[in-house]
Amino acid sequence: MAEKILVVDDEELIRRTVAKILKKSDFEVFLAADGYEAVAMAKEQTFDMVISDVRMPGIDGVETIRQIKEVQPEIYSIIITGYASEETPVQALKVGVNDYIFKPFEIDTFNHSVLRNIVNLRLTREKASLAKRLKENMITVIDTLATTLEARDPYTHGHSHRVGAYSCWIAEELTYSPDDLEILMHGGILHDIGKIAVREEVLNKPGRLTAEEYEHIKIHPTVGYNILKQINDLDALLPIVLSHHERIDGKGYPHGVAGQDIPRNARIAAIADTFDALTSNRPYRDGMPLEKAIAILESVKGTQLDADMVDIFVKKVRERGIIPVRDAQDLTRVTIS
Ligand SMILES: [Fe+2]
Repeated sequence: MAEKILVVDDEELIRRTVAKILKKSDFEVFLAADGYEAVAMAKEQTFDMVISDVRMPGIDGVETIRQIKEVQPEIYSIIITGYASEETPVQALKVGVNDYIFKPFEIDTFNHSVLRNIVNLRLTREKASLAKRLKENMITVIDTLATTLEARDPYTHGHSHRVGAYSCWIAEELTYSPDDLEILMHGGILHDIGKIAVREEVLNKPGRLTAEEYEHIKIHPTVGYNILKQINDLDALLPIVLSHHERIDGKGYPHGVAGQDIPRNARIAAIADTFDALTSNRPYRDGMPLEKAIAILESVKGTQLDADMVDIFVKKVRERGIIPVRDAQDLTRVTIS
């Protein structure tokens, strides 16, 4: 697809000459006689590149590009200048101009500059689309791993997704960026992935575990960590997987880390994990009602769970209620811009 290039120059002869050169390279060319016209056009349609003269009546070329970039931040820009003033390059740099051409210029010089920037533009777009595909693949891997785990333990169906969703409720109050929220969500979904190495009869045992069984189940954070460590791009999720059973008083596992030394995302996921375990149904018991579960969270505040985070969670869960099982998957669809 031919790139759309907007040419801004107050001299008609230059506009026409430049348009002719660009059309030879099969670009789609649009012309503006001054900065105001160019900005107005950029508000109406998207261009891939703007090539502007610097000195024009009304607003100059640098200001024109600055205003165009306000509505089209991704646009590539080239400045044509006859004046090697000291100010222009500094101002152009500030607004993010990609290249300069000095007048008078040879056609080859002009073509070279345009084509080099078009190649950069295409590469940038290709990279962005590759990154998007990689991210989509990563999300598929995460969902598949979580589903694999839950297939072994049908009574905890949706648990991983609910832990991700509850964790994000807390993070919303902590002004997480969309990327950080996504990490927390995916970490919540995968927090127990190491349980694929836990023996089935231990995993699904109704009632109390023996000391040996408890020791066995305690391997899961480390196993999960070792599995995910092998997968590129999932590094950010590792603290949640490794440390979600650590306790504020240092009596947790696997490392007995205490207080703020436990990664924040792991402290958050621990609350979500505990709450969902209390409120969801098991083969041998029904889930607890909301207030009873809250009372338990309050009773372990500052010993097992992070007190400030529990306060945030309690406020949120009183507003929003327990996540019904059927909604858990939907709640994980956190839109990340
Ligand atoms: Fe766990």
